[in-house]
Amino acid sequence: MWAAKISLGVVVAGGILFAQQRNAFPHPKTASEVQIPGDAAHGKAIFDGKGGCLVCHRVGSKGSLLGVNLSDIATQRTVEQLRKSLLNPSPEVQEANQLYRVVMRDGTTVKGKLLNRGLNSLQMLGSKGNLISLRRSDVRESGFMETPPMPSYQDKLTPEEQGDLIAYLATLKGVISQ
Ligand code: HEC
Repeated sequence: MWAAKISLGVVVAGGILFAQQRNAFPHPKTASEVQIPGDAAHGKAIFDGKGGCLVCHRVGSKGSLLGVNLSDIATQRTVEQLRKSLLNPSPEVQEANQLYRVVMRDGTTVKGKLLNRGLNSLQMLGSKGNLISLRRSDVRESGFMETPPMPSYQDKLTPEEQGDLIAYLATLKGVISQ
């Protein structure tokens, strides 16, 4: 009983502290939370068309799993972060963004994002957001695939097109795979 009261007190005090800290340091607004100039529909046309973004990225059920799934990117990044990814991307792909490839003993190949590599099993995220779990004893070989880095679009698109693309990316919140 005492323990319950004390832990309740700790939770309440922690909650108040947390609320105060949130007010003191408001979190930066994500792209989904701000108004952005630019023509999102034109941005989508560039994304799906001449921008070639779907070669590496996935939105909903369209595109590839090679790069990052952008279906919910607007709720995870600020406009500044999106702009940097587009114009000044890092030359090295982070391991978490690389594709993992497994060849099974029966010869079939499975690709996805590696979630966990345990002693006896490994878990991956498939292209449709499905969970794949494999027994390691069924696996012949596995490893990260060479992922081409994100190219800079600084000189590939006009400033207006860049703005329209950012406006489109800012609409991507929880696009559902079909
Ligand atoms: C050749 C493959 C390739 C193409 C084409 C490509 N990207 Fe990327 N992109 C990547 C990779 C790989 C990453 C992850 C980079 C890293 O790990 O740092 C990435 C990262 C991003 C990010 C950051 C994601 C995050 O988690 O913050 C955004 C936004 C993005 N790309 C948008 C685009 C847009 C818009 C286009 C088209 C105009 C595009 N990309 C074209 C490969 C590509």
